[in-house]
Amino acid sequence: MPIREGAPADVDALRRIARAAFDRIYAFFAVRGVRGAWPFLIADVDGVPTGFLVGRWFGGRPPIGYVYFIAVDSNFRRRGIARTLVDESLRRFARRGATRVFAAVTEENDASLGLFGSLGFEKAPRRALWRWYGWRGLSVELRMVLAPHEALLVRTLTDTR
Ligand SMILES: CC(C)(COP(=O)(O)OP(=O)(O)OC[C@H]1O[C@@H](n2cnc3c(N)ncnc32)[C@H](O)[C@@H]1OP(=O)(O)O)[C@@H](O)C(=O)NCCC(=O)NCCS
Repeated sequence: MPIREGAPADVDALRRIARAAFDRIYAFFAVRGVRGAWPFLIADVDGVPTGFLVGRWFGGRPPIGYVYFIAVDSNFRRRGIARTLVDESLRRFARRGATRVFAAVTEENDASLGLFGSLGFEKAPRRALWRWYGWRGLSVELRMVLAPHEALLVRTLTDTR
C-alpha cells in the first residue's frame, strides 16, 4: 500500500482513526501532535487514509527519532500497514542522520509490542536516555511525553540503508 507524507487535509481522517484506536486523551494528543511532527506519514488503501504515523525529530548531535503515535483503522489491521509505516519512518530517520529511534508502548499492548519487536526495537530503561545523551536526554524525555505505564523502546540504526 502506498505511504505518503501527511497534509493538513489528512487531520480529519487521523482524528477518526485515532478516536477509534485510543482513549480520548491519547486521541487528543495524537491530533495535536501533527503540529510540529516529522515525519507525518499516511497509508492509503484505495485512496482512503487507513493508517498514520506521527513522528518527532529531536535535532542535535546525534539527532534522535521518535515514533510518537501510530494507528491503523481496525478494519485494515494485520495486513502489514503499520509495519510499512514504521519501516518508512526508520528509512527517513536514518537518511537524516538519526542513530537511534525510540517509541513508547503500554506494557499490555500486545499488538504494539509485536509490531515494534518485529522491527528490531528493544526495551530500554529510561535512564538509558541520560546515559546516551546526558542533560539533553532528560529534555528529550520530557518532550517524548511518556506516561508512567509506558515502556520505552529503542531501535539502533547501525544497519540501515
Ligand atoms: C498496533 C497497530 C498500529 C498495528 O497495526 P497493523 O497494521 O495491524 O500491524 P501490522 O499488520 O503491520 O503488524 C506488524 C506486526 O505487528 C505484530 N502485531 C500486529 N498486531 C498484533 C496483534 N494484535 N497481536 C500481536 N501482534 C501483533 C505482529 O508481529 C505483526 O506481524 P505479523 O502480522 O507478520 O505477525 C494497530 O493494532 C493499532 O492501530 N492499534 C491501536 C493503536 C495503538 O495501540 N498504537 C500503538 C501505540 S502509539
